[in-house]
Amino acid sequence: MSISDFRWHASLVLMLVFASMHSAFAQLGPSLGESVTPEEVGKWDISIAPDGLTLPPGEGSAPHGKEVYRKHCLRCHGEGAEGGDGLADRLVGGIGSLASESPIKTVGSYWPYATTIFDYVRRAMPYDLPMSLTNDDVYAVTAYVLVLNDIIEPTDVLNSITLPNIEMPNRHGFVIHWPESD
Ligand code: HEC
Repeated sequence: MSISDFRWHASLVLMLVFASMHSAFAQLGPSLGESVTPEEVGKWDISIAPDGLTLPPGEGSAPHGKEVYRKHCLRCHGEGAEGGDGLADRLVGGIGSLASESPIKTVGSYWPYATTIFDYVRRAMPYDLPMSLTNDDVYAVTAYVLVLNDIIEPTDVLNSITLPNIEMPNRHGFVIHWPESD
């Protein structure tokens, strides 16, 4: 076999190898993952808008919230939820400070809707074990944080009806940049 015949045969063999690899990979598909089931989507479809319409059943108040806080939040957010020492954010105080030279933004002073505290804590806290609390625990610890901020009373019970009705101190502090629709 001459050298040019050999090259011709070798390239033919290579072409056949590549062609068969191509069809083998084509059968495998592009490996873009699997379809998710409605149940799987449901676990993450937990957003709560300001109106609180999708708040879950359950309820809680500050006395139990204090226990939840001590067990699951204290080590990062500090005693009395005042943060400190490079730990996680303080969750208390700053009300009335936003327009001053040293504004202190906390969930109490800055967040316009109490429903967002529930949503955020349920989906993201404890930071190292998110979505591990029951809905009752989240209602309760939300109540505890709101009591520490003097926004509700220690005896107030939070649930899907009462939570959206809380008027947060900075509720009207945001500027709307586009005209409100009729
Ligand atoms: C392991 C530490 C850790 C634990 C435990 C923890 N947090 Fe947090 N938390 C954080 C960190 C860090 C942030 C800031 C996260 C960010 O900005 O992305 C945060 C942010 C927050 C915020 C938003 C504060 C803001 O002003 O934006 C809230 C509310 C909150 N945590 C509540 C809780 C509650 C309630 C618990 C207990 C159920 C808890 N956290 C437990 C670390 C922790």
